[in-house]
Amino acid sequence: MTSESANLKSAICNLKSAVGAVVLAHNYQTPDIYGVADFIGDSLELARQASTAGARLIVFCGVRFMAETAKLVNPEAKVILAAPDAGCRMADTITAEALRLRKQELGDVTTVAYVNTPADVKAESDICCTSANAVKVVGSLPRDQRILFVPDRHLAAYVARETGRLLHESRLSTLDSRLPTAGIVPWDGFCYVHASFKPEDVARARKEHPGAFVVVHPECPLEVIDAADAVASTSGMVRLAKEHRAIVLGTEAGMCDRIRRDLPDTECWPLRRTALCRNMKLTRLENVLSALKGSVPEILVPEPIVARARLALDRMMAVVP
Ligand code: 13P
Ligand code: SF4
Repeated sequence: MTSESANLKSAICNLKSAVGAVVLAHNYQTPDIYGVADFIGDSLELARQASTAGARLIVFCGVRFMAETAKLVNPEAKVILAAPDAGCRMADTITAEALRLRKQELGDVTTVAYVNTPADVKAESDICCTSANAVKVVGSLPRDQRILFVPDRHLAAYVARETGRLLHESRLSTLDSRLPTAGIVPWDGFCYVHASFKPEDVARARKEHPGAFVVVHPECPLEVIDAADAVASTSGMVRLAKEHRAIVLGTEAGMCDRIRRDLPDTECWPLRRTALCRNMKLTRLENVLSALKGSVPEILVPEPIVARARLALDRMMAVVP
């Protein structure tokens, strides 16, 4: 660590206790940010932490939908996204207006929103899910119900297979008289980081690291999932890394920093070194300090949206407490 980073870190820690703030960081953040975080986790764990955080101020190191979720589950707290421009390219593939139109087209449908969505899209949805609980959430819904799963088409395909439901085409038309009642209709979104993985990446990793356990994120295409040894959320990967001496992670490459930090004896390689989420890498220590000083605007979600989006999140938490 440079002396500049050390100075920033100590300024952040002092200010954090002075203003009674808590810093939450996603697993894809950098080692610098891990160093000032009170909690590091996946989307589900961060939502849980935010909901129980007693602090008046939550500084979030991650991307916008995560900070919005923190605000939804803890509306009393002031929530600041340290890097205010950090969006999620997958969450940007859907808007509340587009979802309303699609729901009208599909008629009687239960909408399941992956947590990687804007707050107003959650408000238009019946229930939320994260990568850690998507199979359980969809599995909890009646089998004869038509489900619109937004916005990740790859997660939708994985969930459909794991829950034994039919996967429809994303453009399934209501003009089609054979429109089935049951099954999952996916939105046509994806994560550019995970969707870029190929089964050949897994084959190459197995050759380069013989014997290493290969785990991939459920945002990967099904053929990549099939080539791997396991599927897990980012924190699920940390748990698996505890059980394996050597591991390859099919997710954002920075995830290996998280493993190396907690499990220095585990050998860890990214499935591809260049698989980086640009938005997740926008947060710097300077951003955290500015957020603590109040120089970054807080996350605000209009009240009617808070109430409806919160309902979808609460239903998820009821299925998987
Ligand atoms: P996790 O909830 O598994 O951390 O995933 C979040 C995400 O954005 C993955 O790209
Ligand atoms: Fe969004 Fe993909 Fe980045 Fe995760 S890795 S925040 S899904 S763009």
